[in-house]
Amino acid sequence: MASLLKIENLCVAVDDKLILKGVNLEVRQGEIHALMGPNGSGKSTLAYALMGHPKYEIVEGNISVDGASLNELEPDARARMGLFLAFQYPVTIPGVKVADFLRHAVSNVRNPNRKEGEGLIPMRDFRKELKSRMEELGIDLEFARRYLNDGFSGGEKKRMEILQLAMLRPKFAILDETDSGLDSDAVRFVSEAISRLSGPDMAIVIITHHERLLEFNVPQQTHVMLAGRIVEDGDARLAHELHDQGYAGIRARHPAIAAEEQEETAARQPGAAVGARG
Ligand SMILES: Nc1ncnc2c1ncn2[C@@H]1O[C@H](COP(=O)(O)OP(=O)(O)OP(=O)(O)O)[C@@H](O)[C@H]1O
Ligand SMILES: [Mg+2]
Repeated sequence: MASLLKIENLCVAVDDKLILKGVNLEVRQGEIHALMGPNGSGKSTLAYALMGHPKYEIVEGNISVDGASLNELEPDARARMGLFLAFQYPVTIPGVKVADFLRHAVSNVRNPNRKEGEGLIPMRDFRKELKSRMEELGIDLEFARRYLNDGFSGGEKKRMEILQLAMLRPKFAILDETDSGLDSDAVRFVSEAISRLSGPDMAIVIITHHERLLEFNVPQQTHVMLAGRIVEDGDARLAHELHDQGYAGIRARHPAIAAEEQEETAARQPGAAVGARG
């Protein structure tokens, strides 16, 4: 049976500031969802909170997979429950090669009770699997010998994320896309790779402002965030509408929340608030 990721009334604070104010979302294995919303609306915060980033404190609400709460679980335990987050700003780990990193990550997920230094996937099996995934995705085999994210271009970081996705095959993948900085080839690569990787065993939540990604990967559901909440849900047409018309319509339909968004923006820019008009 398809697994269900359920987010109920999720309220999350960062440095004691409330950012998410009651997010509700259900994602079933096999579905593609688009998560949209203006800058600062809380999309990345939701992704980090799902993965259990220590800075993001759940003050209310629940995250669960098939009824089991993840709230108290460490990020690695969440990964073993089938969650995966492609970071908007991936970390650099000099001294660790792509292949070694992937071998550990895959071993951890497939072999949850393994102790450090034990239970790694045998090198030969791993290499064979890695090679065939890389060939499918059209990633140069030399890439596996590079140090993780060290000097990676934006496009190469994306390739790394996609390769992780292909090797880990999580139940729920959350892809937080910086749309800036990716050239059209990289966007096409990501887009095609997602459509190749998606399937009944994997749900993909695409956080994007990019229409291209959603053209190949038509979302069954689109969710729009504003000031820390999901204010509208729809299908692929909603994503197209937002791409064409921006968020003015959303703000007009939710004036109270839009006003809150404005206040928060003003509060972050004290200089601007002093001279604020109207
Ligand atoms: N570590 C942090 N410390 C302080 N404030 C934070 C932190 N992370 C996020 N915020 C604040 O939370 C709000 C939501 O940010 P978030 O990054 O989730 O937005 P977003 O929807 O991902 O935006 P974008 O489209 O620009 O990526 C913003 O007001 C941001 O300043
Ligand atoms: Mg973001």
